[in-house]
Amino acid sequence: MTAAIPSPYGAVYAGAARVIAALDTPDLDTARSWATSIGPNCGLFKLGLAFFLANGAAGYRAIAGRPIFLDLKLHDIPATVADAVRAVLPLRPRMLTIHAAGTAAMITAARHAAEAAGPERPLVLAVTVLTSIDAAALATIGVAGPVDAQVLRLARLALGAGADGLVCSPLEVAMLRAALGSGPKLVVPGIRPAGAALGDQARVMTPREAVAAGADWIVVGRPITGAADPGAAAAAIAAEITAEITTGSA
Ligand code: C5P
Repeated sequence: MTAAIPSPYGAVYAGAARVIAALDTPDLDTARSWATSIGPNCGLFKLGLAFFLANGAAGYRAIAGRPIFLDLKLHDIPATVADAVRAVLPLRPRMLTIHAAGTAAMITAARHAAEAAGPERPLVLAVTVLTSIDAAALATIGVAGPVDAQVLRLARLALGAGADGLVCSPLEVAMLRAALGSGPKLVVPGIRPAGAALGDQARVMTPREAVAAGADWIVVGRPITGAADPGAAAAAIAAEITAEITTGSA
């Protein structure tokens, strides 16, 4: 896969462009400190719902140094989602997220709203089945069958309705690439460098494995932000991916 965002660090650090660092804190000073130390070794920062609710647009603008993936996982009626996308366009996020379960009209509304930003518009990424949901939980909301089947059903729906790509588990990447080809952008959380604590992520891959499987970008939070030296942790992950894309086929 070719990273859509060119690395400013040259070929040696090409892997850094594929790393999205999740700045998962509602505390602005903490997020700014992480951004300063991690920025040189990642391609984007991911800001999520807690950060955005706590700090708003002003807090978002205070996070400088890399493009932003605004991960709000929007899910509402089409007009409301379109309004929400238009509301964040002045912040110029590079990527944003919606729930594929909002169905085609909502996804298309989000894509059309994003297009108002022109060629620099954010990528619209669809979340299929959250990794916290297993087959038993899916059954409780009326979806029978394996999780993978629902992931693929929602992935096809989302891409057909205008999503640029998907947020998916590392264990879904190979299945989605086989079914959907190289076109969709795949953004992959649930990443743990070899030996890192799993935390609440049960099904993980290493950065190198995820990129080899077909991830365009990997999302890494606590293995970077929880490290004694977040900058060094991000650099090690970037170097691991650089090794894969220069010696492997990714
Ligand atoms: O700390 P960790 O590396 O587990 O953080 C992963 C990030 O990716 C978090 O911001 C989390 O919300 C996000 N995420 C995830 N699984 C998904 C979708 C998003 O872990 N299915």
